[in-house]
Amino acid sequence: MLADRTARIGVSPTMKVAAEAMRLKAQGVDIVDFGAGEPDFPTPAHVSAAAHAAIDANFTKYTTNSGTDELKRAVCARYRADYEVEFTPPEAIITAGGKQALFNAAMCLFGPGDEVITHMPGWPTLVEQIKLAEATPVIVRTYAEDGFRLRADAILGAVTSRTRGIIINSPGNPTGALMDEADMAAIADEAAPRGIWILLDLCYEKLIYDPTPHNLHRILVERMRDRTVLCGSASKAYAMTGWRCGWALGPAALVSACNALQSHSTSNVCSITQKAAAAALNGPQACVTEMLDEYRRRRDQLCEWLAAEPRLRLQKPAGAFYLFPDVSEFLSPDGIRTSADLAQALLDDARVAITPGEAFDAPGFIRLSYANSMAELKRGSDRIIEFVRALEKRGKAVV
Ligand SMILES: Cc1ncc(COP(=O)(O)O)c(C=O)c1O
Repeated sequence: MLADRTARIGVSPTMKVAAEAMRLKAQGVDIVDFGAGEPDFPTPAHVSAAAHAAIDANFTKYTTNSGTDELKRAVCARYRADYEVEFTPPEAIITAGGKQALFNAAMCLFGPGDEVITHMPGWPTLVEQIKLAEATPVIVRTYAEDGFRLRADAILGAVTSRTRGIIINSPGNPTGALMDEADMAAIADEAAPRGIWILLDLCYEKLIYDPTPHNLHRILVERMRDRTVLCGSASKAYAMTGWRCGWALGPAALVSACNALQSHSTSNVCSITQKAAAAALNGPQACVTEMLDEYRRRRDQLCEWLAAEPRLRLQKPAGAFYLFPDVSEFLSPDGIRTSADLAQALLDDARVAITPGEAFDAPGFIRLSYANSMAELKRGSDRIIEFVRALEKRGKAVV
């Protein structure tokens, strides 16, 4: 009844516990939510003000399909200032979130017979988009014991004569791991002569806690500008998830193909959103630093609270706003068998919503978002610790 391509994909698995948590909350159940993949902060006031002004000025019509010149220039200027890379408006397209930037690029670059390398544990959409483009995903794994570092030799070991692209997310969701500049350079040096494209998912690029060198942008642009696509987003940096604004920077011919694809699907990003995003990118960046500072305080505090239960094997993430502990100590064949079961039990019994590692191709782990107030993080960590300790007393025989 449905087209074949619908059989290749399913709804994002991150949504299942989230949907149930939402349902329970709507019924008035007191849930502590560690599930959210989005900032809890309000959009900065000067950004919202630009949107109000856009409405008042009736800036409410179609814009150029690929985005306003003002916003494209703002994206190029931001990347010039922050990463010392030069792009011009014909090399930029404004999209409905980073997700559409990545989707456009995958659809315009990959097809049947192509292999595209990406990494797991990771954001499931990257794999699904490869499949939607009818290409074959090739998964490289990263490991908790190695800080989830994505190593050049692992990526290069997966390259074959059919490799058409490599998609890298750094800082990574759900691990918070950063790709080393040296690894990026080594990959680019091998990819460039083979004509392999590299797509960088930079959705969390502004959420890096320590002053770690992370100019993957310039490394790629210097080595293989004609095969590089930088996909960014206003969502996480400026607390703008609902506004739906992202962008891709890449060779003009690719951007032009993405523009054609977008012109027959969603058209331009909401005109009001574009005015707001231009204010975010052109305006003062102190709001980004303030949010980052608060995420850092929460990360450190939550790690400290959860350290009271050492069987929750935790590492401090270098970026993004998730903890990704190994919970395998709590799993057993005669008790709670999987991290998905653990997520369900935490929701049912402890009233805490988390995302199971299965959603990121990482059974045995759970993802906790700390994009939540300190008070909620305290309540939630108390509940988790109480739950896992009670589990032990009950002989783990809960599910
Ligand atoms: C790794 C990663 N990339 C891209 C996105 C896309 O976000 P948006 O479309 O809101 O920019 C997300 C959203 O959660 C993400 O986690």
